[in-house]
Amino acid sequence: MNQPVSGFSKKTKAEKIEWLAENYLQNNPHSVQILKNYWNDDPSLQQLHDDFIENTLSNYYLPFGIAPNFLINGKLMALPMVSEESSVVAAASNAAKFWLERGGFKAEVISTEKNGQIHFNYYGNEKDIETFFEKVKPKLRESIHSIEKKMKARGGGLLELSLVDKAHILDGYFYIHATFETLDAMGANFINSCLEQMAITFGEEAKAFEAFQKNQTYPEVVMSILSNYVPDCLVHAEVSCKVEELATKNYTGKQFAEKFIRAIEIAKTETRRAVTHNKGIMNGIDAVVLATGNDFRAIEAGVHAYAARNSYYGSLTHAKIEDDVFTFWIELPLAVGTVGGLTSIHPLTKLAFEILQKPNAKELMKILAVAGLAQNFAAVRSLITTGIQKGHMKMHLMNILNQLDASKDEKKQAIEYYKENAVSRSSVVSFLEKFRSQEAN
Ligand code: MEV
Repeated sequence: MNQPVSGFSKKTKAEKIEWLAENYLQNNPHSVQILKNYWNDDPSLQQLHDDFIENTLSNYYLPFGIAPNFLINGKLMALPMVSEESSVVAAASNAAKFWLERGGFKAEVISTEKNGQIHFNYYGNEKDIETFFEKVKPKLRESIHSIEKKMKARGGGLLELSLVDKAHILDGYFYIHATFETLDAMGANFINSCLEQMAITFGEEAKAFEAFQKNQTYPEVVMSILSNYVPDCLVHAEVSCKVEELATKNYTGKQFAEKFIRAIEIAKTETRRAVTHNKGIMNGIDAVVLATGNDFRAIEAGVHAYAARNSYYGSLTHAKIEDDVFTFWIELPLAVGTVGGLTSIHPLTKLAFEILQKPNAKELMKILAVAGLAQNFAAVRSLITTGIQKGHMKMHLMNILNQLDASKDEKKQAIEYYKENAVSRSSVVSFLEKFRSQEAN
């Protein structure tokens, strides 16, 4: 049986791999070789990646692709995308091209406010905590002077502090709600540092507050942390065209637009559909978030909470026809940074920013919203016309061929064959069997 290990993080990389092989990989040299195959030949580049996290053993590759032809507010852009899903980049490129011919995407940032909370317990007199909060507020601000100095000089920093009483929901629960402007930084470190410092000041000042002393009831800080729910860090993106411009081989523009709007209405009504609908949006957003070294978990958490803000979970996109014009739009919260974090450390992330012509955080918010809208357009268009499997399986064909160890020639023949035939795993297996038996004869 495996034994717990102590001091693991202090072992060298080679020792860690040896330990892993011994304890979990039956000392299989092939498994160890897989880890080594993904090491970078350049030792300094490898070291950079080793240092990103604790206990790095190897690198995990995901494809870094590019979706061209995105016309965003009149500027033609190519979006770097990192995704493991075969059809994501193809779908984005497709939607970009479609809207390029119809005026492109328009995007605007609505708000950029971030927030965090100091959560605390307080079981005393309500008036006393309110009076104390008003008294301590300027001191809380003062206490973060050195932390926010640089941010303030650039026009950002702490915006407002307010006291929120939640004791009616959870006995004795209050929090200080702090709002921030973090400019081009995602701001997590900045916000958390400010909150932690203000929490210390809050606790110290509370000890000296007369009313608390008299009743021997003090507020007690539980934790201080930013919130990834950022409903006031919102971006809007949209596309529009004359309804007739949506006509396809099998649908008039009006038929297509009406079916499309119906699909959006279903995603607004039914959680089961909405979750998948929004997952498709996130296929586009996450891919650009990853390419730009931003925190996709934070983005995901905030976006889905926003989708549920009205007490039910619904679509993040909307569509309408007005005066024969079809408009399709998205509005969602996206707290991202173009400085700090991995953005200036990971060489591919730096390259992604170059490709995007060095956007600031507001510009990146717009690009991301557009990526989500485009992805959703491509998905819904497929769903209401051909179904998604046709395009998806075409893109997945290469994965199936690789799984089945197809040779270069077999791949070439298969690609030709599947131009006219539906892809499925079993069909590719039969195709290869047939091809291989013909070759053998
Ligand atoms: C697959 O990754 C995403 C879709 O399921 C999204 C959707 O259903 O809208 C195609």
